[in-house]
Amino acid sequence: MKDDKKHLSVSAIQNGTVIDHIPAQNLFKVISILGLDNISNQITFGSNFGSAKMGKKAIVKIADKYFERDEINRIAIVAPNAKLNIIKDYEVVEKMVVEVPDSIKGIVRCMNPKCITNVEGIDTRFDVVDKADVTLKCCYCEKITDSDHMDFV
Ligand code: CTP
Ligand code: ZN
Repeated sequence: MKDDKKHLSVSAIQNGTVIDHIPAQNLFKVISILGLDNISNQITFGSNFGSAKMGKKAIVKIADKYFERDEINRIAIVAPNAKLNIIKDYEVVEKMVVEVPDSIKGIVRCMNPKCITNVEGIDTRFDVVDKADVTLKCCYCEKITDSDHMDFV
């Protein structure tokens, strides 16, 4: 292990996943989307660290947990630049970036107030029609929800 690990703001982990470059304001959305509020693994996090690229960033470290690709991609809407570091025996053995998925279940509200998902509280489902500037098409009412109108469940 490198000496600079001694100076981490959030302690190094032995095994697990470090999710870095989360926009600070979306830290708790990431925690909720990944279901981290319902698991028994050790979790450490820090927020409002300075980042040259993105203003304030947050970081989450989950011990003894490795995510599937489709689980990781669920955070793309709230943390498009997140980097996942896979840690084994204190070393970073792999880095992964998130990719905006083709479709999204839950997470986002449909911006159409008359949509059945809003009226009857049904879980939302969207097709992603633009991945670069995330734009979602509701599978129920076909209305478009763009990134300027994105509201989270
Ligand atoms: N990390 C950790 N526990 C370890 C090893 C690394 O918590 N045993 C964390 C580091 O604190 C860092 C992230 O995992 O936040 C990535 O580690 P590393 O690749 O060594 O850092 P950087 O080179 O700064 O990564 P990048 O520039 O890709 O963000
Ligand atoms: Zn809708």
